[in-house]
Amino acid sequence: MNKKVILITGGAGFIGSHVVREFVRKYPDNHIINLDALTYAGNLENLLDVQQAPNYTFVKADITDAAHILALFRTYRPDGIIHLAAESHVDRSIESPLSFVTTNVIGTVNLLNAAKDIWQNDFDGKRFHHVSTDEVYGSLGETGLFTETSAYDPHSPYSASKASSDHFVRAYHDTYGLPVVLTNCSNNYGPNHFPEKLIPLCINNILSNKPIPIYGNGKYTRDWLYVIDHARAIDLVYHKGNNGESYNVGGFNEWQNIQLVEELCRQMDEKLAREPGTSQKLITFVKDRPGHDLRYAIDAGKIHRQLGYAPSVSFEEGLGLTIDWFLSNKAWLEHVTSGQYQQYYQKQYKK
Ligand code: NAD
Ligand code: TYD
Repeated sequence: MNKKVILITGGAGFIGSHVVREFVRKYPDNHIINLDALTYAGNLENLLDVQQAPNYTFVKADITDAAHILALFRTYRPDGIIHLAAESHVDRSIESPLSFVTTNVIGTVNLLNAAKDIWQNDFDGKRFHHVSTDEVYGSLGETGLFTETSAYDPHSPYSASKASSDHFVRAYHDTYGLPVVLTNCSNNYGPNHFPEKLIPLCINNILSNKPIPIYGNGKYTRDWLYVIDHARAIDLVYHKGNNGESYNVGGFNEWQNIQLVEELCRQMDEKLAREPGTSQKLITFVKDRPGHDLRYAIDAGKIHRQLGYAPSVSFEEGLGLTIDWFLSNKAWLEHVTSGQYQQYYQKQYKK
């Protein structure tokens, strides 16, 4: 029997590395190829524990390079693609929108073209899983939830580029019959999270007694999911989701930024044996993000009803696991926050 080949893009990044680990361990009979350009956000240190696995191969490649991607697809002939590679940070998209168009839109279309080329019209056992975000739906007011039928209404260059890539994935299904599934997930957190995003940035700053920057009044709301629970959802939808359909992924777990950061400070003080209230003193309100979406909240009812999905950890538990991981992996944190990160931080937070 031929081994199934599953190509995962962006596998050296935050979420991708958890997806790669899940697939390498759970499916020893599948050949898992991790295709990643290793941008500032890609880090093979995230995968030290699986790098020697016999069913794992890493390929350094840029999804914006159409010819290279096509050549790799012709070589490896993947049966399935799980596409996570992207520029993923809203603040960077505000500074540099075009790189988001190039990677997130053109890169996705290059992958769709390569899949179409190698599969021709033989789609039996084939699947293109596009990993996307709830941010494509725009911003909610105080109430309501995003469902799979909510209208797309992106506001940031990041979410606009992801929305565009989602449209292309659906267009390739409708036009060429490509077998696709999409997942739109809420904010993730957990081990290996790059410290440009809220939670790891706060953990890093608390560890080094630096101010915790809260944008605006801190009353923005996000719906948080532990990254390993996102990887489990991707596994489920990749294998069992209906062709051509989208699935929202979330944990029904909304937190205002300020409340989340206060809980994080409380847990950090406890774990670091600091006087209660020590970390909270670092909270500093700073200039707001332009076009800041007020609230994201996912109705994850469809994936629960159709595929039986439910998150495995509560937020308090997941946050504790995340802090423990960062405390036990200080070398990882030092590596990713040296060099370029310092320049990014100065530029982003000096405003
Ligand atoms: P990340 O920024 O941590 O990782 C992105 C990965 O993609 C990195 O390994 C990077 O090297 C790689 N990459 C970037 N440009 C590339 C290119 N041109 N060619 C090949 N590889 C490239 O991102 P993440 O937070 O792990 O997000 C992964 C995916 O999940 C993204 O598509 C994102 O839109 C989506 N998503 C993220 C969240 C979240 O909360 N982080 C939530 C929902 C959906
Ligand atoms: P982020 O982690 O960048 O994710 P996203 O913008 O994709 O939701 O931000 C989460 C929330 O935290 C968002 O409302 C912006 C806010 N935020 C801050 O208040 N301060 C910060 O330094 C960062 C990075 C984010």
